[in-house]
Amino acid sequence: MKILCLLGSPKKKGNTAYALNYLEEQLKQQHHEVKHVHVPSLSIAGCKECYWCKQDEAYLCVNNDDAIPLLKDMLEADAIIFSAPTFCWGFPAQMKALLDRMFCLISWKEGETESHSLLEGKTVGLIVTAGGEVKNNAELLGIAFNNMVEFMKCKLAGIVYIAPCEGIQSIDDTIKQQLDDLSQRLGS
Ligand SMILES: Cc1cc2nc3c(=O)[nH]c(=O)nc-3n(C[C@H](O)[C@H](O)[C@H](O)COP(=O)(O)O)c2cc1C
Repeated sequence: MKILCLLGSPKKKGNTAYALNYLEEQLKQQHHEVKHVHVPSLSIAGCKECYWCKQDEAYLCVNNDDAIPLLKDMLEADAIIFSAPTFCWGFPAQMKALLDRMFCLISWKEGETESHSLLEGKTVGLIVTAGGEVKNNAELLGIAFNNMVEFMKCKLAGIVYIAPCEGIQSIDDTIKQQLDDLSQRLGS
């Protein structure tokens, strides 16, 4: 399977990267094709709310920045893993910009109440790190992500919270087991 792994931390070698790299190694051992993308290195603007993407003839987004090839990667992938540190009870701005731009993957046909998603049926997962607790903190990213998964008509493989995360030593055997399980569900 083709699995797209998105690192949403500005740090390429931080806590989130460590957890994501561990998951990627598990996926490679299961002979999946892994593509790793560091989202904050890309130039992805926020959604302009122009609704161009909702016109019948529109394909993806009118804003031709680095989001476009990444959205195409998403369409090609069988599964997508998102990862992010908690920043002010939410996703880091660079990752939030991408999530907002994914709005272009949803469309509504005139006269139909049901929406269409270009990501329908894809398996997705999330890794969240945080300095603080899960409750009322890291879980807020999971709640938003869950809603997004439903909106995008994707299948949720799971969410792994690493919180409180006090460096890579917090990614202990218990967390590694959760990442192993997530890798199995992503690839099945
Ligand atoms: C701008 C900023 C905002 C943060 N906000 C929160 C927060 O709201 N809750 C929390 O628990 N940790 C917060 N943290 C801590 C990070 O989520 C935590 O250190 C995380 O593991 C960093 O992951 P990284 O090394 O992959 O970047 C924040 C850190 C920064 C730099």
